[in-house]
Amino acid sequence: MNKLEMIYEGKAKKVYRTDSPDFFWVEYKDDATAFNGEKKGTIDNKGVVNNKVSAVFFKMLESKGIPTHFVELVNDREMIVKALEIIKVEVVVRNIAAGSLAKRLGLAEGTVMAKTVLEYYYKDDALGDPLINASHIAALDLATPEQMEFIRTTALKVNDIMREYLAPVNIDLIDYKLEFGIHKGQVILGDEISPDTCRFWDKNTGEKLDKDRFRRDLGNVEGAYQEVLRRLTGE
Ligand code: C5P
Repeated sequence: MNKLEMIYEGKAKKVYRTDSPDFFWVEYKDDATAFNGEKKGTIDNKGVVNNKVSAVFFKMLESKGIPTHFVELVNDREMIVKALEIIKVEVVVRNIAAGSLAKRLGLAEGTVMAKTVLEYYYKDDALGDPLINASHIAALDLATPEQMEFIRTTALKVNDIMREYLAPVNIDLIDYKLEFGIHKGQVILGDEISPDTCRFWDKNTGEKLDKDRFRRDLGNVEGAYQEVLRRLTGE
């Protein structure tokens, strides 16, 4: 397969067309943004870590029956994925209060939620990705009710699988964001699953091993990303 012209550049990734209409070529960048692009920087080697960590999670999820867009790694920073028509809904799953949920509901960060919280955000940079609900999704025709039911149950299955997978490497899965898209008529999991899109806390010390180190200037950002890769792969 050959990498052809770039068709999309996002904040953290570039997407290229390939000589097959069924596949895209994704390159993970070191660029980091936070607060809807207000804070910008780079995290050395982030692209490598996120590419490899996403591959580990996608492969593991596929093995447990979750359909994902992942096909194969090409090199340290690049992977081949199935071509998706992205659904403009970001799905956030939360086990422990942090970030915007802690702020919105006045909860102390670290409060264990009695039930897993599922949220939807409208994927629209110009609007700052506002929080929406199933009725907004239907009214804006972002996805069908059947697609949303599949997305809801899949997002919760991913939660059980990921928490179990991360427990032996002493990582608590606090929250994370998923994106889904349509490939050949089927809804499948897309985007990335990485320290950029998940909150990972060390189970014993509570140390943050994710993008909050960049968002909040906590230091050792590269080290935290590298540590997640090390725990998952030994690298
Ligand atoms: O900021 P907030 O607390 O709502 O983020 C919840 C989770 O979703 C965090 O793990 C964050 O990294 C992720 N997220 C993301 N992309 C966004 C918004 C949130 O990956 N645009």
